[in-house]
Amino acid sequence: MTANIDRYAVFGNPIAHSKSPQIHTLFAEQTGQSLIYTAELADIGQFDQAVKNFINNGGKGLNVTVPFKEDAWNCAAQRSPRAQRAGAVNTLKLQDDGSLFGDTTDGIGLLRDLTQNHGIQIKGKTILLIGAGGAVRGVLQALLEQQPTSLLIANRTKHKAVQLADDFSDLGQISGCGLNEINEARFDIVINGTSASLQGELPPLPDSIFKTAACSYDMMYSAQATPFMQWSSTHGAKQVFDGLGMLVEQAAESFYIWRGVRPETAPVIKQLRLAFTQQKNSE
Ligand code: ATR
Repeated sequence: MTANIDRYAVFGNPIAHSKSPQIHTLFAEQTGQSLIYTAELADIGQFDQAVKNFINNGGKGLNVTVPFKEDAWNCAAQRSPRAQRAGAVNTLKLQDDGSLFGDTTDGIGLLRDLTQNHGIQIKGKTILLIGAGGAVRGVLQALLEQQPTSLLIANRTKHKAVQLADDFSDLGQISGCGLNEINEARFDIVINGTSASLQGELPPLPDSIFKTAACSYDMMYSAQATPFMQWSSTHGAKQVFDGLGMLVEQAAESFYIWRGVRPETAPVIKQLRLAFTQQKNSE
C-alpha cells in the first residue's frame, strides 16, 4: 500500500523525459527514506490547481521546471532570500500550517558541480555567462557570491543582458552586452545558459573566448556532447562539462530541504552517466 507514503513530484510541461523521478528514487534508496516521486504534466494556466490537487492527495513537496518556475514563485507563501531574488522557485515544500515554502536550488546546483565535482574555483576568475533567461537569472547570485573578478552576461537580445546585470549589480562586478559585443575578451570560465542546445543550436560566439586552461560548461545535458561543448573543445577550452552534475546537485539540495538528509551525489551522477553511455552505444 502507498496510501501513507510521502509523495513528491516534478511538475512541468513537457515532463515525460524528466530524470528527476529516477534521481530522487535513487536518493531515497540510498538514504533509506520512504517516499514516492513522480513526474506530473501540468496544463499551462492550471499550475495552481494542479499543485492543490497534489497536496490534497498526500503531496509533501514539489520540484518545478519549465515553464512554471514563476507560477511556483507566486504560489509560495514564504520564500528563501535566494528564491526571492531569482524571481523563480524550483522547490516547494508543504509546511505544518498547510502553506508552501519556495526555494531555488539551481544556483547551488551549478556551484557544487563546478567547485566540488570538477574542482573549478570561481574566486578571482573571469566568467562569461551566455543567455539572459530564467536559467541564467537563477544562478547569478550563487556565482557572484564566490567573488569572481568579473562576470559578463552576453545575450542575443542585448537589453535583457543589460537589465539582468543591473538587477544583480549590488552583488559584484557584473555587466551585460550583446553576443556580437564580446569582441576580443577572453575568459577563464564560459557557461552556456541559453536554451540553444535544446534545439541543437549554437549561439554565435567569437572564435577566441577561452583563456589558456579555460573551462567551458553547458547547463544543458544530453547523451551526446551538445553543439556548445563540441565547439568549445575545438576552440581552445581545456575542460568541457555538461549540466548533468548540476541537475543531480540541485535535486540533492531539494531533497535536503524536504527531508533534512543530504544524499551523496557522486554515485547517482555515475549511474546516470552510465545510462547515457549505454544509450549512445545503442544509437
Ligand atoms: P530559460 O528559462 O531556459 O532560461 P528563457 O527564459 O526562454 O528560457 O531564455 C532562453 C535564453 O536562451 C535567452 O537568453 C535566449 O536569448 P534571447 O533572450 O535573445 O531570446 C537564449 N537563446 C535561445 N535560443 C538561442 C539561440 N539559438 N542562440 C542564442 N541564444 C538563444
